[in-house]
Amino acid sequence: MTDKKLSGEVYYPSDEIVKNANVKNWDEVNNYALENYEGFWEDRANELSWFKKWDKVLDDSKKPFYKWFVGAKTNIAYNCLDAHVKTFRRNKLALIWEGEDGTKSNMSYYALHRETCRFANILKSLGVGKGDRVTIYMGRIPEIVTAMLACARIGAIHSVVYGGFSVEALHERLEDSQSKVLIVADGAYQRGKIVRLKDIADEALRRAATVEHVLVVKRTGHEINMESGRDMWYHELMNLPIADHGCAIEEMDAEDPLFMLYTSGTTGKPKAILHTHGGYMVGTYATLKYVFDIKEEDRYWCAADPGWITGHSYIVYGPLLNGTTSFIYEGAPNFPYPNRWWQMIERYGINLFYTAPTAIRGLMRWGNAWVNRHNLSSLRLLGSVGEPINPEAWKWYYEVVGNSKCPIMDTWWQTETGMFMITPMPCVPLKPGSGTRPFPGIEMDVVNEEGESVKPNEEGFLIIKTPWPAMVRTIYNDDDRYVDQYWGKFEGVYLTGDSAKKDEDGYFWVIGRVDDVIKVSGYRLGTAEIESALVSHDAVAEAAAIGMPHDVKGNVIYTYVILRSGIAPSDKLREELKKHVGHEVGPIAKPERIEFVDSLPKTRSGKIMRRVLKAKALGVDPGNISTLEE
Ligand code: PRX
Repeated sequence: MTDKKLSGEVYYPSDEIVKNANVKNWDEVNNYALENYEGFWEDRANELSWFKKWDKVLDDSKKPFYKWFVGAKTNIAYNCLDAHVKTFRRNKLALIWEGEDGTKSNMSYYALHRETCRFANILKSLGVGKGDRVTIYMGRIPEIVTAMLACARIGAIHSVVYGGFSVEALHERLEDSQSKVLIVADGAYQRGKIVRLKDIADEALRRAATVEHVLVVKRTGHEINMESGRDMWYHELMNLPIADHGCAIEEMDAEDPLFMLYTSGTTGKPKAILHTHGGYMVGTYATLKYVFDIKEEDRYWCAADPGWITGHSYIVYGPLLNGTTSFIYEGAPNFPYPNRWWQMIERYGINLFYTAPTAIRGLMRWGNAWVNRHNLSSLRLLGSVGEPINPEAWKWYYEVVGNSKCPIMDTWWQTETGMFMITPMPCVPLKPGSGTRPFPGIEMDVVNEEGESVKPNEEGFLIIKTPWPAMVRTIYNDDDRYVDQYWGKFEGVYLTGDSAKKDEDGYFWVIGRVDDVIKVSGYRLGTAEIESALVSHDAVAEAAAIGMPHDVKGNVIYTYVILRSGIAPSDKLREELKKHVGHEVGPIAKPERIEFVDSLPKTRSGKIMRRVLKAKALGVDPGNISTLEE
């Protein structure tokens, strides 16, 4: 980039990296995009296929309900599959998969297209059509990709629920989305054990009335309940003549919804973030191409779960749009031994590897010997996402995993942004712990309570000033909440919910959430979900949850519980409550600590002051407590 000397600890890219990168001069691209914002995205859109091109790139007449590629017709599934099947990529591998138990499978673009069409026909035969919601609940298996793409193909809106969520979380999402169909796996392997997904789904279905059909993918093969008239085996359906491989693709308006994905926000229930066929497609395609520097012969591995936004954008859609070969691994990094992921990188010759700081810190703790046993020389580029990466973990990742030759793309983004927002590219000088600067053309800032830019290195609210193609369009069925939560604090700008600093070089340093969201091991949870799970237990009258810093997980959950009168606190009850939260929300939501208390700090209007609880737990000054009730 510029010749200007940057402050702090800087890792400059080698000449070779710059020479071979898709983008060689970041400033040039950024300047072009700043001056010609719509043109920049229009150029990217022109690299993809459309049934009809747009009349207008960006419509901002009804802010903050922005529209992109107005009037255009497309289907993201067409660009993920059909477009490639017509080229030399027809027989290229789209997916390579390995299960935790060592089962392996591959699918070419041709095969994935075929499977998707066949499954799309089954969905159609069950009456699923454009605009219908379909919930998908399974582990990291190829069928999750097929199911998502089959929905997209026929214009149905998929709602993937992470396989680590449990009964109430699934129920809430089924109910809110009013899904008619649930696609579920019998189970998932996790560290040698079976997570009984279908049993969890059965329990959730007893609480939710909308689902008419349950399609069950056989993964673990253990005994499960199949309710006649409602439940059907995926593999049996796929053997029916109706599962024909010819399936016309639905022509979608660029602004038609593609999927909804539930995420936690400030107070209340999880909200469904809505993404569209057109803008989301252009955004995920271009960001992955530029940032991960996708080359035709690459093998790419994003080790996230398809059930979160990282999986949607950068396991499923982004890589397929780029015609790349993706590897998906079912299991954990440390099972049966802490070299499992390194073994996979070596076995499959992975070139581009993308994971989260929590995993990096865990892998680092198990020691270099596990890494050094493997030849990781295929790696060319590394990525990080989900939470701030501490410089120590960054350097370990860079030196030990990447052998000091792979640039690290620390990508900051959100379920709502759909695509990378603050991110380097391989040609950009890196500072460990900073995601560097916004993607070309996107303007972001750090501001104070009044919405004014703060001085370099001062902390403030992280905001986004420009609309972007993959942006959230609304919260499903709740336009008011969309406007209020994201656009309500500062006029005309998007509030991320994060705090950050910007240094004298314009590099952003994200600090963390400033709302009621807790990132546990990179997973996004809301205090409200944990609290309502606790309160749903007979013994609990009131509860409060906070996030507390943790060396490996980033944060863990501490909770404060007021028991109902007559109920005595005990270690047994504490364990029971932890289990209850695990059963209702999911194992990731289990509190690390439960403290029984007689009262909670509240404002005069009855709002729990979590900030005060956190200050107390950290042993620091709680700051202004003038609104405290007592
Ligand atoms: O706090 C930021 C953190 O993750 C939040 C978004 O969470 P979610 O919607 O689950 O999406 C995660 C994957 C895109 C953000 O508000 N976050 C994400 N990436 C980073 C990050 N914090 C610091 N650095 C990152 N690279």
